[in-house]
Amino acid sequence: MGKRLLIVDDEPLILHGLTRTLQTQFEVVSAQSGPEGLDRFSQEGPFPVVISEMRMPGMSGTDFLGHVRKLAPDTVRILLSGNLDLEAMLSAVNEGTVFRVLVKPAAPELLTSILQDAFDHYRLAMQDRVLLQSKLEEVRNQTYHLERLATMGTLAAGVGHELNNLAQVFQSTLQLIKGDVEADQPPRADHLRRLERVGDHLAHHATALLRLARKPSEGPIEVDLALVVAETLEMLKETGMFKRINLNVCLPQTPVRIRVPRRELEQVLLNLLRNASDAFYGIPDCAAHILVSVEPDWKTRRMRLTVKDSGCGIPPDQLEVIFQPYFTTKPPDRGTGLGLPVVKQIVEENHGCIRVESQAGHGSTFCIEWPLLEA
Ligand SMILES: Nc1ncnc2c1ncn2[C@@H]1O[C@H](COP(=O)(O)OP(=O)(O)OP(=O)(O)O)[C@@H](O)[C@H]1O
Ligand SMILES: [Mg+2]
Repeated sequence: MGKRLLIVDDEPLILHGLTRTLQTQFEVVSAQSGPEGLDRFSQEGPFPVVISEMRMPGMSGTDFLGHVRKLAPDTVRILLSGNLDLEAMLSAVNEGTVFRVLVKPAAPELLTSILQDAFDHYRLAMQDRVLLQSKLEEVRNQTYHLERLATMGTLAAGVGHELNNLAQVFQSTLQLIKGDVEADQPPRADHLRRLERVGDHLAHHATALLRLARKPSEGPIEVDLALVVAETLEMLKETGMFKRINLNVCLPQTPVRIRVPRRELEQVLLNLLRNASDAFYGIPDCAAHILVSVEPDWKTRRMRLTVKDSGCGIPPDQLEVIFQPYFTTKPPDRGTGLGLPVVKQIVEENHGCIRVESQAGHGSTFCIEWPLLEA
């Protein structure tokens, strides 16, 4: 950038004289008042250096330079004063509004040398800024890299958690198929379908791992929530999850269409139901109840999925943290504390909300709401 200089002075003769003196070495733009100076500064800038007379009607020189400072903090500001108004000059310097104060009439050599200093100062400040920016960029990149590593760690743990859930479904289904084969029966079609779905989940998680921090882009898929709930419950029943539990299911007769990928919906149900069945530890079988219900509300065009258990309940201080990653009250071989964070993420990414009501000793109710699609 050339050596552009803005001079502001309300006395036309002085302004003219200064312009004439300086325009041999600098590219000078002049203005006769603070407001005009600000207009020129905004419209014709940037200006590395600005000089302003102190006493001007309307906007004073210090006020004008204060505005310039806000607009362009790097611009070097010089105050010219026709008299020795020391107090005002000192406070302008001390408050950092100006770089130099000059008393008029200033000898041309002094003025030129101060201006050279000012341009040098500006150039160095800009160099510092460029250096600082590249340093900042470097630090930002490093932070991004670290965050990515942390995300990868969380993702890997999350995938491991889901793989563990899937392994249970896989093993129990395989046992059933083995039982059939040993009894010289062909494997049942629904067992094979279930293995297919497990395979589908595995492939999905493998893709997620390969893409690491990027979420796999599975577009929204419309499903009938009632049907997915019924089929998932059927699948889980055979894993023995509800062996000692009274399971009640309340589903509507008509399809309830929502836009949530089926695989994610199954993940939500699996996690909520595993938590519910874990909550019966130490509770007699006859007192163990789970209710799963789906209620469409056609007026508000939302549907509600509820998983209610009569288990141990959650104390108020824990209710605040159960959705945080790695919060668990279970022993290390039973829980990682990633189930509910995954559930919450899936629900919210699909434009839903989840809430929980619970009382220690009196069971818990997890409620999810999603927008309904047209019937
Ligand atoms: N239905 C429930 N009844 C009582 N406590 C629950 C229930 N659901 C969740 N919690 C509490 O919330 C904690 C966090 O649940 P979350 O599903 O995130 O992790 P986890 O079940 O401990 O482990 P993971 O699901 O990773 O195997 C649980 O450890 C438990 O203390
Ligand atoms: Mg869990």
